[in-house]
Amino acid sequence: MKIINVVGARPNFMKIAPLMEAYNKNGQIEPLLVHTGQHYDEKMSDLFFRQLGIPEPDMNLGIGSASHAVQTAEIMKAFEPVCLEHKPDVVLVVGDVNSTIACGLVAVKLGIKLIHVEAGLRSGDRSMPEEINRILTDSISDLLFCTEQSGVDNLLAEGVEDDRIHMVGHVMIDTLLKNLEKAQKSNMLADLESRFGVNGDGYAVLTMHRPSNVDDPVVFSRILDALEVIQKDLPIIFPMHPRTRNNIAGTELGSRIEDMTNLHLLEPVGYLDFLKLTSSAKIVLTDSGGIQEETTVLQIPCITLRENTERPITAEIGSNQIVGTSTESILQAYSVVKSGQFRKPQVPPLWDGKAAERIVKALVKKI
Ligand code: UD1
Ligand code: UDP
Repeated sequence: MKIINVVGARPNFMKIAPLMEAYNKNGQIEPLLVHTGQHYDEKMSDLFFRQLGIPEPDMNLGIGSASHAVQTAEIMKAFEPVCLEHKPDVVLVVGDVNSTIACGLVAVKLGIKLIHVEAGLRSGDRSMPEEINRILTDSISDLLFCTEQSGVDNLLAEGVEDDRIHMVGHVMIDTLLKNLEKAQKSNMLADLESRFGVNGDGYAVLTMHRPSNVDDPVVFSRILDALEVIQKDLPIIFPMHPRTRNNIAGTELGSRIEDMTNLHLLEPVGYLDFLKLTSSAKIVLTDSGGIQEETTVLQIPCITLRENTERPITAEIGSNQIVGTSTESILQAYSVVKSGQFRKPQVPPLWDGKAAERIVKALVKKI
């Protein structure tokens, strides 16, 4: 069975790595790997291939950045000839980025079976570009692999037949569990000490890249109001996403960030360094999807700077609090964590490092 696997953006790499390994072990699948090139900076792409041992992509479509319509269309135009040439039995897409829906659409229009890994997640917020990508990708997929029960429930409620849905756990957590020990060897904490004088025992980690936060100066500014207060209490380490970096360059928001003496900016960091950073943090503040889940497994309190989440299990039983973006609610959540009234999180069912194995087993049986 020939499977074309698609990656494009940073969070896709952690999801595809264990699948490539599981195909290899199984031996019945001929995998090809296509990188759309949606992310292309060394620190947003190649670094992850090296650190996670992902094979070199068989093809890089080199699409790069553009508006949603142009990026999606260019990926489709470049991916169609790849499918025509290689005639895969299956196209497998992960997550919810533009590369996911673009390649999914090409596959089904050519009559190729489509598999979606991380299916069924819903934030209920259609202003979020990823929500549209999720709904559309799920609606055209033949087999849907879910990370949490809410995904299964959402798909059933949308009329997807039960036998096309598989609850398998989370491939991104396969990667986390596999690399946790290795990550402890990272020099990240020594670097923090030498560069910023930050003690490895006490800091917060911040990531922000959602357009609803970083493309809107009003929202960004009220988040900064909260960060200004927090950094006086606890140093904040902020590996900055390129979208965010580009947005603040030369703006007042940029100057405010520079003026915060205890908020320390980094370039995006590689997976192992980031895992070391988050696993040793006192608290994580984020608007990322994946980081809400990783902090739950790491049992690190997570304050999510969003009004909603498509990953509700992390807030129901994990370490996540969805606090929105008002200055007061962020500070309130911070003080709750600081006072130690933070519940002991549980790890969601099947987040055990074996999701990729389950997916490959189901693929071999069903396709
Ligand atoms: C994309 C995904 C988002 C995901 C995020 C992960 C979509 C719609 N969005 O958002 O779901 O959470 O990736 O990080 O697919 N840029 C660079 N270098 C790069 C990549 C991007 O400088 O290697 C800059 C460019 O200015 C670009 C901007 O970042 O315009 C946004 O990149 P894009 O891939 O369009 O969206 P993300 O915000 O990265
Ligand atoms: N990550 C990383 N370095 C960073 C920030 C994030 O390796 O500087 C990892 C993080 O551990 C997780 C993934 O990137 O595995 C999350 O990607 P991102 O937040 O870009 O996207 P989202 O999950 O929001 O789609």
